[in-house]
Amino acid sequence: MTSSLATINDEFLSPSLPEQVAAVKSRYAEVFGNPPQWVVAAPGRVNLIGEHTDYNAGFVFPLAIERYTVIAAGRPLRTTASDAIRVHSTLFDETAEFSLSNLEPERRDWTSYLRGAFAGCLERGLQPGTLDLLVDSKVPQGGGLSSSAALEVATATLVEAVTGRTLDRVDKSRLAQTAEHVYAGMPCGIMDQFSSALGAAGKLLLIDCRTETAELIPLDDPSVALLVINSNVKHELTGSEYPDRRAQCEQSAKLLGVAMLRDVTSKQLEANRGQLAPLLYRRAHHVVGEIERTTRAAAALQAGDWPLVGELMYASHDSLRDDFEVSCPELDVLVEAAREVGADGGVIGARMTGGGFGGCIVALVRAGREREIADRIAAAYRARTGIEATAFVTKPARGAHIVEG
Ligand code: GLA
Repeated sequence: MTSSLATINDEFLSPSLPEQVAAVKSRYAEVFGNPPQWVVAAPGRVNLIGEHTDYNAGFVFPLAIERYTVIAAGRPLRTTASDAIRVHSTLFDETAEFSLSNLEPERRDWTSYLRGAFAGCLERGLQPGTLDLLVDSKVPQGGGLSSSAALEVATATLVEAVTGRTLDRVDKSRLAQTAEHVYAGMPCGIMDQFSSALGAAGKLLLIDCRTETAELIPLDDPSVALLVINSNVKHELTGSEYPDRRAQCEQSAKLLGVAMLRDVTSKQLEANRGQLAPLLYRRAHHVVGEIERTTRAAAALQAGDWPLVGELMYASHDSLRDDFEVSCPELDVLVEAAREVGADGGVIGARMTGGGFGGCIVALVRAGREREIADRIAAAYRARTGIEATAFVTKPARGAHIVEG
């Protein structure tokens, strides 16, 4: 039987990093006329549970995925200024330039993430000098899988390769987070950059975003697999949704008399419900509940209690949809379709993943049934929305690293 997804989705299985690297090296030689000297890779991430908790100093439970942003680099052949960076993107098939002595934080384009990461490296005394770069990515753009964090972390890793210096990996994620804040204008938490920098093969990261430390938790039960299904929609809202949610969380914490929502338990929130207007209560209710669900899910996963992990994932989705209001009809349809396939059909649990308003769902499923499950969910999604979903399976992957040089 041929899979219907095979026709719309040629990368259901992980693309091979060595193949991507080989293609990037030969493209670099075509564009710049000589082979690259350095090659680095940084992955995207998917979050199993713990959404919109990172900027509340809570817990998140993501993994780096087997989809990498790869950068190849070398010294220019032509005569250039000692601070000139020329970068070619395979995605846009476009070459851009900027200068390390004037990184233009206000300029917003696809080089923002690179410029921001270079700025952070320069601040830490890493001086890469003039470079030609070629950037390629297998992390779907705009899918909530941290393509921008992968690019920031890859850039910082490249500067490490070029300068021979090593950044502390947590500091590298902070540097990349600051790049996102200042150069992309997105006040994100630490989860995405941390996952890309510290991801480990076969392990999920239970990150305590207060202490910025992670416990590595193996996902080694051969009977379960991870499926990522992209709704292929990204709602362009006003752009203020994320900062608004952050502000609402800060305001709720203040009214509850604590520094961060992490400091409140569900019991305390109920006892002090009167302090919050209904909207702020719902926002806080999501965050406080989600932090509890995340640590419970990590414990359940370690105990192999898959039904409980699944239940917590569905509860997370409902809370993001109803209390935090960051889902959208398309994500709800995907999760509903997964729920309909259900445990008998091999689905353990599913939820939206990432910031929301489009992008992907993550489903925990029984190994061996991934394709059949993806086909059933995609068929239901197509019937209800008229949109084609794309899907892939992934395992927890190695974080950012130098491939050559
Ligand atoms: C985006 C942000 C993260 C995190 C998630 C929601 O991905 O970049 O820091 O807040 O949304 O969990």
